[in-house]
Amino acid sequence: MEFMDVLTARRSVRSYTPTPLDRATIEKLIHAAIQAPSATNTQPWAFGVITGVERLKEYGDRVKAKLLPALDQMPELERYRDMITDPKYNVFHGAPALVVIYGKPASLLPEIDCALAAQNLMLAAAAMNLGTCWIGFAQEFFDPPAVKAELGVPESYKAIAPIIVGHPAGTTPPVPRNTPEVVYWM
Ligand SMILES: Cc1cc2nc3c(=O)[nH]c(=O)nc-3n(C[C@H](O)[C@H](O)[C@H](O)COP(=O)(O)O)c2cc1C
Repeated sequence: MEFMDVLTARRSVRSYTPTPLDRATIEKLIHAAIQAPSATNTQPWAFGVITGVERLKEYGDRVKAKLLPALDQMPELERYRDMITDPKYNVFHGAPALVVIYGKPASLLPEIDCALAAQNLMLAAAAMNLGTCWIGFAQEFFDPPAVKAELGVPESYKAIAPIIVGHPAGTTPPVPRNTPEVVYWM
């Protein structure tokens, strides 16, 4: 696929076939992620991978259990309350794999660097006809020390980009973009 076509082909996919992703495919996506630029070339990223629709459903239920009581403190998420409280709502949308990108400490701008790595991963997946979706709802879940200990993640790492990956079930229509605001052009 031409690169400019990949940019428009990438969509946030929320419906997947249960077909598993093999290790080599996920490694290829991580290889794409780490080609991203990073401030002072610190490459401050680390990756966690969770596979299996059922395992991810269990983690998704834990994410929801943590998210629901927190909704009261997050007015910006109020419009999602009905969706999140729906027992049928799966935070990970039935995807067969999740890649969590963690930012490492002692780097200048780990959030930005990891977001760039995340975008590389999502675009590489689109070029391989795979679907992805950044699951911001899950970010806080992966950050507490207890969850990091459970997953073998150093406590100083910060969960930044949880991204589901899988084979899309059907097509996802594009979300229209607003006209870009150009504030100066000299
Ligand atoms: C930081 C971030 C967090 C997001 N969190 C979620 C999420 O928790 N659940 C979800 O279904 N989509 C999530 N999305 C996907 C956005 O809703 C999506 O990118 C947007 O609607 C535009 O659609 P597109 O990606 O298909 O262009 C997130 C995207 C970003 C960049």
